[in-house]
Amino acid sequence: MQTKLVKIENKPSDDASMEEAAELIKNGELVAFPTETVYGLGADALRPEAAKKIYAAKGRPSDNPLIVHICKYEELLSIAKEVPPQAKKLADAFWPGPLTMIVWKNERVPYETTGGMDTVAVRMPNHPTALRLIEESGCLIAAPSANTSGKPSPTEATHVLRDMDGRIPMILDGGPVRIGLESTIIDLTEEKPMILRPGYITKEMFEEVLGEEVQIDPGILAADITDPSKGGQKPKAPGMRYKHYAPKADLVLIEGATDHVVAKINELVAGGQKEGLRIGVIATDETYHRYQADVVFSIGARTDEDAIAQHLYKILREFDEQEVDAIYSESFKTPRIGQAIMNRLLKAAGYQVLHV
Ligand code: TXA
Ligand code: MG
Repeated sequence: MQTKLVKIENKPSDDASMEEAAELIKNGELVAFPTETVYGLGADALRPEAAKKIYAAKGRPSDNPLIVHICKYEELLSIAKEVPPQAKKLADAFWPGPLTMIVWKNERVPYETTGGMDTVAVRMPNHPTALRLIEESGCLIAAPSANTSGKPSPTEATHVLRDMDGRIPMILDGGPVRIGLESTIIDLTEEKPMILRPGYITKEMFEEVLGEEVQIDPGILAADITDPSKGGQKPKAPGMRYKHYAPKADLVLIEGATDHVVAKINELVAGGQKEGLRIGVIATDETYHRYQADVVFSIGARTDEDAIAQHLYKILREFDEQEVDAIYSESFKTPRIGQAIMNRLLKAAGYQVLHV
């Protein structure tokens, strides 16, 4: 299959391409499109065969459910069995935006889309191209991140092309995404709302809108969710259970005071190079010049957490291109989305952390 990559700039000249993309979705085919978080790989959410094509293209385990993207609040009501009282408040506050809500599904939603679950994940993305594709196709669009299963989510169209070339008919190129981390997932099917995946919207932001306590899935806070013998509880979102976002090289995080971290990383780099290995480092603008590795990337200024989030996946992908053997990274415990950033980095590192 030929994969067509088309630039969409939200101008009248896009009309023909958008029509073509909408037509593909209507016909049960796959189209990758930009959202404000990461690129999605979309298909008609209410058609089992269309959902199956998504799993095949990504190489995704069929028990890992998809997020259904909508463009109007009423569409949530059309696929939910019951709508919990918090849903409207959260939608008013955060939709369109980087928020996914889990609710009980009704019979319109096939189990192929929900990975066999009786609940469904729903999100209204805040991106003109995504909203237009949903609207013009007249479909609800199931879309996981548009990467090969296990790889970092795509934050640019070229990342999608790298993973999906020859596997899907069309990619809509809207340039680099704004946020760079996947949406926050909140589960509204339990007694208390619970965050299943941290993201741009935080526990504190939810609590302010809802006026009630919001929990965080203990499974995602555990030291090492991939090793149950370490006492880790299983995360509720199936996709949070595996090593993920991983670059090809082994990644280790170094945590501690900056000077100690820089010294330790340089020591590890020297050790690796002595063995003939090619070593990469994830630094910040502040520390970038202090490393002597083969490949050093700055993720941004340490105080600019939006930049750190935006650059993380791109950098992980670039290390794959650079064919390094090992990567050492500084840690990023920033105030607001630091939890989301560290959650992704820890998973990418398979929970290998050195404290200095
Ligand atoms: O920002 C985003 O959410 C992006 C863009 C494209 O919208 N999408 C995305 O989808 O990150 P994906 O498939 O890569 O991640 C969906 C996550 C997975 O961890 C999956 O297990 C979880 O959501 N999930 C989906 N439906 C669920 C359900 N009914 N119950 C629990 N977890 C669910
Ligand atoms: Mg994903």
